[in-house]
Amino acid sequence: MLRLDKYIADTGTVSRKEVKAAAKKGLITVDGKTVKDVSVRIDESTAEVIYCGQKINWRKYVYVMLNKPAGYISSTEESDKTVMKLLPPEYSKMECFPCGRLDIDTVGLLIITNDGPLAHKLLSPRHHAEKTYYYRCSPEIGEDEAARLCRGVDIGDYVTKTSRVEMIGGSEGYITLTEGKFHQIKRMFEAVGSNITYLRRVEFGTVKLDENLAEGEWRELSEAELLALRSAAEE
Ligand code: URA
Repeated sequence: MLRLDKYIADTGTVSRKEVKAAAKKGLITVDGKTVKDVSVRIDESTAEVIYCGQKINWRKYVYVMLNKPAGYISSTEESDKTVMKLLPPEYSKMECFPCGRLDIDTVGLLIITNDGPLAHKLLSPRHHAEKTYYYRCSPEIGEDEAARLCRGVDIGDYVTKTSRVEMIGGSEGYITLTEGKFHQIKRMFEAVGSNITYLRRVEFGTVKLDENLAEGEWRELSEAELLALRSAAEE
């Protein structure tokens, strides 16, 4: 059960103060009846709330797929040029945050949600959610370097777990990790004598980057994507 003003303000489009004012004017109905007291508690799973003529689509959690462009940081800090600035402000008001981090110059799939428990599961090292990246590197790597990346390399303060590398040639390919140390892929390539020149995440767990999204574009996850992600997180 939720207070009516919280239920409406949770959508991130109006403040509780505005809700109170609208209620006084008789502009809110719950299950067909006008409600003037915004402190009443309603059943969020069944109530039909109309606010100023519009049906409220209340959701506890939201899940966004963003094709992150370069130049944005994966954080929620108000002051910075963050990925949250690429979404409508409702998502920040709903306390969404990026599920994991991509470096400022890395592009591609970033999931943004306010579902803390799911994000926690997906990011926990115990869970081993796979993340696949398309990379370009210079100088080229050969089969030996790729095999070393797969077995695990010493990146200074850590020896990486096994990964998968699918080479397209010496200077590009896909790498799949089950962990996410700071600058991990860049440091892995440095460990075998190369440098990452471009990095794009294309998969996170069961979710694939939607090729119809240009960099900077986003959409909410479909029901099927969300179900698959949730069930993978439970494994
Ligand atoms: N590895 C990196 O080096 N950078 C990223 O953004 C992600 C993985």
